Amino acid sequence: MTNDGKYIVYHGLLCPNETHSPESFKYAEEMKVNDDDIFVVTYPKSGTTWMQEILPLILNGGELTPVQTIPNWDRVPWLEETRAALVLDRQTSPRAMVSHLPYHLMPCSFFSSKAKVIYVTRNPKDVMVSSFHFHKMASFLDDPGTFDEFLDKFLSGQVLFGKWTDHVKSWHNSDLGDRILYISYEEMVKDLRGVLERFSCFLGRELSEEALDCVARHCCFSNMKTNAMSNYSLVPQEIMDSSKSPFLRKGIAGDWKNHFSPEQDAKFSAVLKEQTKGLDLKFCWDE
Ligand code: A3P
Repeated sequence: MTNDGKYIVYHGLLCPNETHSPESFKYAEEMKVNDDDIFVVTYPKSGTTWMQEILPLILNGGELTPVQTIPNWDRVPWLEETRAALVLDRQTSPRAMVSHLPYHLMPCSFFSSKAKVIYVTRNPKDVMVSSFHFHKMASFLDDPGTFDEFLDKFLSGQVLFGKWTDHVKSWHNSDLGDRILYISYEEMVKDLRGVLERFSCFLGRELSEEALDCVARHCCFSNMKTNAMSNYSLVPQEIMDSSKSPFLRKGIAGDWKNHFSPEQDAKFSAVLKEQTKGLDLKFCWDE
């Protein structure tokens, strides 16, 4: 593990010093995973905050109090971040947490547990756009440079948590059977109500039609944008400056079309095709 300016490098992956430390990674490696633990795993900027809103609602039968009173990072903490040790040890079961770790870096006891995983993917072009704006507003991250420069960094994996393709491959090659549910950000944008039903079924939680309607209403982008417990407005402006770009920025699928030139699009697609060669990965945004 090395320290490189604003970042700590963990197994070759860049992670912000602001929220990660050698101790936090040790905690993640050694934590005792319970059979009823629930992990949401994402590559950064794929809908993590959205899932931190959805999960507690599904687990509490649509009861809004937790999402209206507890900040997202304490409600559904990051496994590998410094707050995990503080928050997870006092959570009642089932514990829900998010993680950006690739499959092979999950806690040792995860692999022999029955803990469930929801893995959320998002069109990498939109991930890159979202990340570019995030780097502009978060002072604990390096300036992204020009869009063209950031595109090269993204494709070569010199960004938070490494290459998008490595992350996605690691989780799609996992051998978790019915312990894992794959979902895309795009499916959530298109039919959140339908996806919520799939989540509640996967997690063994029966929610009434009314409760599901309530969760879908509460978790829409415009509503979450005004929830101070979820929109990062509690973070001081010198750390996250929403006047440069709000954390909950656009919340749409396909914003990359407003950012990529035809040349950048061709280059990005070609590199991704090369990086996923020989793999049987089909994504809804490719159809
Ligand atoms: P944009 O920057 O494209 O708007 P993460 O939480 O993993 O960092 O991902 C952040 C992205 O998820 C941001 O994308 C954010 O707006 C989007 N997001 C968060 N909540 C959302 C919601 N309720 N509906 C749609 N998108 C949402």
